[in-house]
Amino acid sequence: MKTVITFGTFDVFHVGHVNILQRAAMLGDTLIVGISTDELNYSKKGRYPIYKQLDRMKIVNGLRYVNLCFFEESLELKREYIERYNADILVMGDDWAGKFDCMSDICEVNYLERTPSVSTTEIIEVINSE
Ligand code: CTP
Repeated sequence: MKTVITFGTFDVFHVGHVNILQRAAMLGDTLIVGISTDELNYSKKGRYPIYKQLDRMKIVNGLRYVNLCFFEESLELKREYIERYNADILVMGDDWAGKFDCMSDICEVNYLERTPSVSTTEIIEVINSE
């Protein structure tokens, strides 16, 4: 039995999010998703998400191929989360390519190609410009 873990904000949920979660789930038997907290997102991207963390978690948790969600409170805790959930495979989008190779001593690290032409930032920009 293989456990896959992945992380993200998943704000203004879109098809790129569905695609990466589906592909991550196909790599193992159980999929665990770390949802960035509102505060972590602020420190990472300089803005709060549109959807609050509990709502973002409810949406991701509602997908049938997601087994468990938890809040990711700090980027520095990745190793601890991987160990806590006994993850065999870490999946990240290829916007993070190479950045988590240092985890390969405790799990397999797999970067999946991002879905082209869609991102939360772009959706927010389009809505704001109308
Ligand atoms: N992702 C993806 N394809 C996209 C957008 C996101 O595969 N077109 C993946 C990211 O690589 C990440 C996960 O979805 O593994 C969550 O990404 P997140 O940062 O929450 O979404 P983005 O749309 O990239 O958000 P933003 O524009 O705010 O950076």
